[in-house]
Amino acid sequence: MEVVSTVAELRARVSGWKRAGESVGLVPTMGALHAGHMSLATASRGECARTVLTIFVNPTQFAPHEDLTRYPRPLERDLDLCQREGVDLVFTPAVEEVYPPGDSTFVEVTGITKNWEGELRPSHFRGVATVVTKLFLMALPDRAYFGQKDFQQQAVIRRMTRDLHLPLEIVTCPIVRDADGLALSSRNVYLSPGDRQAGLCLPRSLKHVEELWRNGERDPARLTRELRSVLAAEPRMSLNYGVLVDPMTLEEATTPRNELVALVAGRVGQTRVLDNTWLRMSASDHQGGN
Ligand code: PAJ
Repeated sequence: MEVVSTVAELRARVSGWKRAGESVGLVPTMGALHAGHMSLATASRGECARTVLTIFVNPTQFAPHEDLTRYPRPLERDLDLCQREGVDLVFTPAVEEVYPPGDSTFVEVTGITKNWEGELRPSHFRGVATVVTKLFLMALPDRAYFGQKDFQQQAVIRRMTRDLHLPLEIVTCPIVRDADGLALSSRNVYLSPGDRQAGLCLPRSLKHVEELWRNGERDPARLTRELRSVLAAEPRMSLNYGVLVDPMTLEEATTPRNELVALVAGRVGQTRVLDNTWLRMSASDHQGGN
């Protein structure tokens, strides 16, 4: 495994592979790697001849009051995990490599960035869309891998890739959870044991609506009430939103439909936690002639 920090080195490696006819998968991360990140690398290794994982704590997606400076950066441990996973190349650029002095170009996706995380973190998706576009153009991969864990983020990246005709495929991978059900996140290291216990109301609320969905409930108003009643039972959760949305538009759903995503997010102590579940018709429902 090789580790490079400049765009020139990254491009040299990738173009060598492409000349040899090898496909390339890209896994963008901010480091502090866990099994959720590594599942993206595993998916890439399964589908692409070569896997590039990027580690870059992107300053433009953090607001001034957020945790940019204290964001965990255990680089040696991260490189060890990448090595063990069979990643071919790790790209760890400095801020000036990604944002050259005087850089003044941003990528902004409108519409689906308006609500939820976009409303709470107003310049967040502009920072994400900008850095992901840069990483795509630096690496020119055939596929790029993202987690469903950040549902709105993958929707924004899919939209942007389509709108800008970026020549690659976006792959969304399932949420990886700890044994207690909490979705893995680099920010979970901030949680005290008590915080963690409180955070478990997120997966609990999602399991509850999954069960209602399995039993045939399709009314978004009823599902939303049920979701929120589980969340409200946890006094230490300061809820940001608990909603049922259309998976494509991310608008709140008001009429019954065959596919919905339940999005939940809040704060326990100082730490933000988010989670979601995709409610779909099962294959057997479809056979019933929908
Ligand atoms: P980061 O939070 O490091 O996450 C990197 C990727 O790992 C994202 O696609 C995220 O959805 C995925 N991921 C995180 N936790 C996961 C889990 N429990 N299960 C499955 N996938 C999980 O998201 C970012 O970084 C940044 O915004 C980035 C896209 C790298 C742009 O800076």
